[in-house]
Amino acid sequence: MALWLKSQRKNRAATDLARYLADPVGFVEERLLGFLWSKQKDIARSVVSHRRTAVKSCHDVGKTALAARIGAWWLSVHKPGDAFLVTSAPTFAQVKALLWREINRVHGQGRLPGRVNQTEWLFGNEIVGFGRSPPDTDPTAFQGIHARYVLVVLDEACGIAKTLWDAADTLIANDDSRILVIGNPDDPATEFHEVCKPGSGWNVIRIAASMSPNFTGEAVPDWLSPLLVGKTWVEEKRRRWGEKSPLYISKVDGEFPEQSEDGLLSFKDLRAAVERSLPAEGDNELGVDVARFGGDATIIYHRMGPVARKVGELRQRDLMQTVALVLRSIAKTGATRVKIDDAGMGGGVTDRLKELKMEGAFDAQVVAVNVGEKATTTEDAAKFMNLRAQLNWGLREIFHAGLIDIADDDDLLAQASSIRYKFTSANRILIESKEDMKKRGLPSPDHWDALVLCFANYSSFDTSYRWVGAEDEIEKLYRKLGFEEHVMMNGGPR
Ligand SMILES: Nc1ncnc2c1ncn2[C@@H]1O[C@H](COP(=O)(O)OP(=O)(O)O)[C@@H](O)[C@H]1O
Ligand SMILES: [Mg+2]
Repeated sequence: MALWLKSQRKNRAATDLARYLADPVGFVEERLLGFLWSKQKDIARSVVSHRRTAVKSCHDVGKTALAARIGAWWLSVHKPGDAFLVTSAPTFAQVKALLWREINRVHGQGRLPGRVNQTEWLFGNEIVGFGRSPPDTDPTAFQGIHARYVLVVLDEACGIAKTLWDAADTLIANDDSRILVIGNPDDPATEFHEVCKPGSGWNVIRIAASMSPNFTGEAVPDWLSPLLVGKTWVEEKRRRWGEKSPLYISKVDGEFPEQSEDGLLSFKDLRAAVERSLPAEGDNELGVDVARFGGDATIIYHRMGPVARKVGELRQRDLMQTVALVLRSIAKTGATRVKIDDAGMGGGVTDRLKELKMEGAFDAQVVAVNVGEKATTTEDAAKFMNLRAQLNWGLREIFHAGLIDIADDDDLLAQASSIRYKFTSANRILIESKEDMKKRGLPSPDHWDALVLCFANYSSFDTSYRWVGAEDEIEKLYRKLGFEEHVMMNGGPR
């Protein structure tokens, strides 16, 4: 009797859920007792009516939250065993900590069928859904999935390798399957950009911050609005990145920035540097970019071999406070060399540091770098207009070769993706001046400049420095780290 009752209830639950087959919005509202704002509803409905949906969107509008609910809907409304859910994102952390954490939440809230662990959904012992982040090169990533109704969800779509897109496409070959890809449109040289172009056959939905509830006044529950992108954040980014910066265009406007021909770094190289982890072994050095104008900050970057992180930031133009910050950074990191931009107030900072060093306050070598000077060797002077160009180019080579590991720091990424270069009439490389950047509405690239100094390779003492050159540096790191495979995987030297 009890058993009969149980199976009756189960059947009822199943038919109950099947009601929502064409109504994911109703499923979320009635079954999960949740809420979707208008664009989230549009996306949910698009998955019903279109086989392929692409969402290019600004930061923090509930893309991942929506994708998780769609995944849960898909497995709940189809007959157990008929449907399959495959999700992927560039890193396993993104799969587990973002999308599947939300799936776990809604599974519990909705008391949905089956059970869910960190990255899998099971009915009995049968896996009906999983999240994976296979290595770029694995063509078998999604093999062995045979269900009538397959839903593929790709999150952070710009970082997903072409091989995976192809694998996903074979999964949704029949009319009843669906694919939903979502992400920040931060890299135009990606498959994500291709599918977002008109005529691709995908239903493309764009979300700019200005379309979201905190900007339009669309009514949402009190608990939701503080979780979504807000005016303060956008205003801060406008100031810090500049409206024309590729990062602003992507993270605020929800549009693909153009990969400018003359951009010093590609988005691909930048993202790869964020995603890889290298061992922190090697030179232990600081790069200091000293504040010049009202809005600038003093930024200190530290590197241990290829691993670079920001260790100091000071938004005041005060000589003694800047010196104190450098001293604290030396103490904190044990750096053996500090390279300081010598222009303007930087000169005062190096002078004071040299005094302090004589007094025995610290051991690190202090190197004053004037990037306006000519390149360090005759050969380099023929190639680069000045030291600034030489050092910028050197760091670009290090990014190309995959020999740098940086944090996901948007200030740095915004600046790094805004730097432009050109060839002069004498065929020498010149980096766009800060004045010209200012005219383009871009702030002074203080984070980037500190990173450049951090990687500038000087030996010997004080002012008689010698640039070892990016290629030697790369060779050295390459051999020391033995990353042959890793370098190749990330595109390798071009
Ligand atoms: N419809 C929703 N229901 C519940 N939580 C939501 C909803 N939309 C967004 N959130 C929450 O808002 C925050 C930001 O959403 P997220 O999906 O991470 O944004 P995005 O992927 O666009 O950056 C998360 O904490 C998420 O759980
Ligand atoms: Mg997200």
